[in-house]
Amino acid sequence: MKFDVLTLFPEMFEPVKQSVIGRAAQKNLLEINLINIRDFSKDKHKKVDDTVYGGGAGMLMKPDVVYDAYNAVKTEKSKVIYLTPQGNVLCQSKVESLAKEEHLILLCGHYEGIDQRVIDKIVDEEISIGDYVLTGGEIPAMVLIDSVARYVDGVIDNESISEESFSKDGLLEYPQYTRPETFEGVKVPEVLQSGHHENINKWRRKEAIRVTYLKRPDLLEKANLTDEEKEYIKELKK
Ligand code: ADE
Repeated sequence: MKFDVLTLFPEMFEPVKQSVIGRAAQKNLLEINLINIRDFSKDKHKKVDDTVYGGGAGMLMKPDVVYDAYNAVKTEKSKVIYLTPQGNVLCQSKVESLAKEEHLILLCGHYEGIDQRVIDKIVDEEISIGDYVLTGGEIPAMVLIDSVARYVDGVIDNESISEESFSKDGLLEYPQYTRPETFEGVKVPEVLQSGHHENINKWRRKEAIRVTYLKRPDLLEKANLTDEEKEYIKELKK
């Protein structure tokens, strides 16, 4: 899978060169290219922004410069995503479907934003990472790359994905423990040391439901639950 990031601040992307995603890129499981929009400015001062027609605060990124940067990387298979607080808020099912794309072009705005004409011309989808405003699309683009890259074959093991929060029937993940067996007087739940896999799975499922009920009860409405599990939630409510 290939990501081409159109940005004025390629140096902000150091974090995705580290750890799991960095190693995956080194192994060529994915490709992350950073394209500096400024390189496409024809202006002798490399100007990329200008004042807003009609007046108002700040500067806007110029459409022609953004368009030239886009044309340098686009293919027939590209999907262009503009990171903006106006987009649909990113969720795990969206992450999963984006992972099926071959080529994502991530357009990062900065300053007050981008001229609307180039947005209308090149953008396939607008995505937000939450209802708050950041100084630019770079951090959202990294959030998107990190979350999507995890679904690319070989980046992390498949079991981690199927057991994690949001993936297993729409529930949050159950609590997990490692050594020492007793920490500050608190023991690891006995069932987890029993070696009885059926009981362990039952306990984990129940805990996933309990944790979701306590932390994100809104998720339970869409969760895939048996009648018995729905009864358990009624008990928790008492
Ligand atoms: N750019 C600025 N704020 C943003 C947000 N919340 N999501 C995506 N892009 C943004």
